[in-house]
Amino acid sequence: MSKTTFKAHTDIALIKYWGKKDEKLRLPENGSVSMKLSELFTTTTVDFSFELTKDVASINGFSTEKELQRTSKHLDRIRAVAAKQNLPMAKAKAKVVSENNFPKSSGLSSSGSGFAALTLAASKAVGLDLSQKELSILARQGSGSACRAVCGGFVEWKDSDTSEGSFSETIFPATHFDIRDVVVVTDPGPKRTSSTQGHTTAQTSLLFQPRQNSLPQKIEAVKTALSKKEFQTLGSLIEQEALEFHSVLLTSDPSFIAIKPGTVQVMHAVLDLRDQGVPCYFTLNTGHNIHVLTLPEHEDQVSSVLSGLSLATNVIRSKVAADPEELSTHLF
Ligand code: PMV
Repeated sequence: MSKTTFKAHTDIALIKYWGKKDEKLRLPENGSVSMKLSELFTTTTVDFSFELTKDVASINGFSTEKELQRTSKHLDRIRAVAAKQNLPMAKAKAKVVSENNFPKSSGLSSSGSGFAALTLAASKAVGLDLSQKELSILARQGSGSACRAVCGGFVEWKDSDTSEGSFSETIFPATHFDIRDVVVVTDPGPKRTSSTQGHTTAQTSLLFQPRQNSLPQKIEAVKTALSKKEFQTLGSLIEQEALEFHSVLLTSDPSFIAIKPGTVQVMHAVLDLRDQGVPCYFTLNTGHNIHVLTLPEHEDQVSSVLSGLSLATNVIRSKVAADPEELSTHLF
């Protein structure tokens, strides 16, 4: 097949996936719900060629040995599916060039959009024509949140005990509810602990099991708030969820302290804005950068207050993004 390029948006988990019940297959301990973000994305070009003797990959201009190995392992999964269909390029090596338009490894889910774009571009480049379910299952094995990043709008990744059952679907399209996300970059540098590492210690927290017990009900409540477009109910639920999730991180062994002074400064600014009657709520993943959700009519004010904070480096404003897109211009 020919060179293929895909752009996949990252997402913010409204209900987080944390901990895995199967490490190898990346089966999460719980279901999760997320919202795709229009201004945070990865663009990836893949080309398979018999002239290459090994896979080559460049991410944001360079790549570490560890990143190359993870990319190549994911290409092997795609080649294995292609081999079952007797596609000739299943035996070829690939060149991968990938670019994020936002800082990676800083809690903004670059691995989610990265492995989604890689799965979409590589499977098409190798000659496969897969369904969204098949793409989601494949992407999940590269990075958990990539399972959601192959879909658009508001996405649910259902809990399952099998690989075949562990995939994501759009529950509401991007046009359903116009929510705005303002990411405050409080430090463009990488986080201290990766999510991959953190997942392995999730169960050591004494708060892990109580959180698990409450999640099915919380997921239903978030889906209901989304379906009725009740922003304040949704906001309270997702902010509480982020704090419960971080309580698990803080009380794990070893402890996982993801928040930094700039993160806490944003949390207080959000509380102050709410005291003034501005509907806005925060949520964050395993990094120090933090997302603030608000409604369109308050986005300018929220963004201007947050970007003026002494510890804010910059803000990135997103709408809800639709499905990933195939592009006709390539990165090489
Ligand atoms: O996809 P991973 O392995 O990077 O884990 C993501 C975990 C969280 O971002 C904290 C939550 C989520 O559901 O995205």
